[in-house]
Amino acid sequence: MKKILITGALGQIGSELSLELARRYGRDNIILTDIREEAIPALSDFKYYKVDVRDKASLKEILENNKIDSIFHLAAILSANGEKNPQFCWDVNMNGSLNILDLGIELKLSKIFIPSSIAAFGDGIDVKNTIQDSVLRPSTMYGVTKVAGESIGNYYFEKFGLDVRGLRYPGIISSETLPGGGTTDYAVEIFYEAIKNKKYESFLKEDAVLPMMYMPDCINATIQLMEADVKNLRRHADYNLAAISFAPKDLAQEIKKIIPEFEISYKPDYRQEIADSWPQTIDDSYARKDWAWEHEFGIEAICKDMIDKLSKKL
Ligand code: NAD
Ligand code: SER
Repeated sequence: MKKILITGALGQIGSELSLELARRYGRDNIILTDIREEAIPALSDFKYYKVDVRDKASLKEILENNKIDSIFHLAAILSANGEKNPQFCWDVNMNGSLNILDLGIELKLSKIFIPSSIAAFGDGIDVKNTIQDSVLRPSTMYGVTKVAGESIGNYYFEKFGLDVRGLRYPGIISSETLPGGGTTDYAVEIFYEAIKNKKYESFLKEDAVLPMMYMPDCINATIQLMEADVKNLRRHADYNLAAISFAPKDLAQEIKKIIPEFEISYKPDYRQEIADSWPQTIDDSYARKDWAWEHEFGIEAICKDMIDKLSKKL
């Protein structure tokens, strides 16, 4: 990868991935795009374009003008927001991905990353240690777009030789940018509320176990997959990926070790139904074998780092 474009660069993952890619490949080689008016302060030194991923002509112009050879396509509507307007979720997620893939062929790009999610899974799965080739019957429009995104990514790899890679990310926890409307957002909100108000009302029930991952692990996994030798990859757009799994009550218990006054209460809403359809733990042995994936952060280390960083910031 020489010259990289990121879509959805101002989001939870994009904002931190941009900084790490700049550290590795040089800031001038990383071009940021998003639908928002202007870049956030932490990214103000980057070249930034406001562009809708559904606007193929504008994307093409930006890719050509900047001689881009690889794309990290992160622009999407996430699970909870997607359920509020499923047609819009389909429009952004599918037409955005299709534009990126078609431009990958037209402009002979070298690599494209399109993330999938644990939301690709649904009815009929074994929720414990969900295997790579489990059935995919998603319960949300977001999940439908993720399954379709994986399929079309794999199809473009086989049919056109386009090097498309993707990970089924678990819920991502991060300290720098707030999450963008997903079912796992509670695991970030809880830290802000614990520090500011010493209490949090969870929209998932106390024992809703989900696969989760800290942002540094997410960034490492993403870059490691993109830098892996294609000869070693048995999968392309749909690698299972895991780190740890926990429920709101487990996270609350860890937070209490650092903030003893912290109290959690539970008021499950529509997002609980989404969480019920997702795996609790994931078998990511393909990733661990093919490109030596290993996560670093457990629940204790995540809580310590989140509380350290957010206490300074808030
Ligand atoms: P996010 O919501 O924080 O960021 C998405 C970004 O896309 C936002 O900055 C938004 O402004 C931008 N965007 C939305 N519509 C757009 C459009 N039409 N054109 C251009 N930009 C647009 O999401 P994220 O958490 O950073 O997720 C990035 C990717 O990772 C997505 O594909 C998501 O499905 C996937 N993922 C995320 C998680 C997670 O827990 N964060 C888990 C699984 C998968
Ligand atoms: N964290 C994401 C969501 O909740 C999973 O894809 O939507």
